[in-house]
Amino acid sequence: MNLLHTVFLYIHILSAVISIGPLVTLIPITKKMETADEKEMVGFVKSFQLAITVVKHAGHILVVSGAILVMISGWTWKDSWIVLTLAIMFLSIVFLARAFKPTLNTFGTNAFKKEEFISKLRKATWKYIFLLLIMLWLMVSKPMFW
Ligand code: HEM
Repeated sequence: MNLLHTVFLYIHILSAVISIGPLVTLIPITKKMETADEKEMVGFVKSFQLAITVVKHAGHILVVSGAILVMISGWTWKDSWIVLTLAIMFLSIVFLARAFKPTLNTFGTNAFKKEEFISKLRKATWKYIFLLLIMLWLMVSKPMFW
């Protein structure tokens, strides 16, 4: 493995860690939201937004470094584990945009219902973690389905 390959693989794995890490911290935050007063809720919602922003940027680095790895490694865009990861990645991006933002945007408006808000955020977080873990498995085990 040459230096360039090692550097991009390192960046790729680091961005995978930063993509998943903040989401894991969001689960206990949704638990804390249940008993939070309005002032505390503002802080938790801000933490949530910040975590989603970090995940979004890390996701971009993940995709770019992944594309570079395909170009400089022996793998191709036709390999089943890469095709499946790309498909799930696309779904996750659409999902991330639709699941979190509209819910977070209801905070401070008339549409805000605390229990529904917390439950939606928690479900969306688990779903996104699950999708990332499937992609992680595809990347690590590289199954060849065709
Ligand atoms: C656009 C999507 C992606 C592409 C094109 C891509 C591409 C690649 C390629 C080609 C490798 C192998 C590098 C090599 O053998 O030298 C790799 C490794 C890896 N990828 Fe991705 N990746 C993508 C998304 C992801 C995601 C979403 C995750 C985690 C959630 C991830 C985690 C990893 C890990 C941990 C490795 C190292 C596994 C190993 O080779 O032992 N990748 N990726």
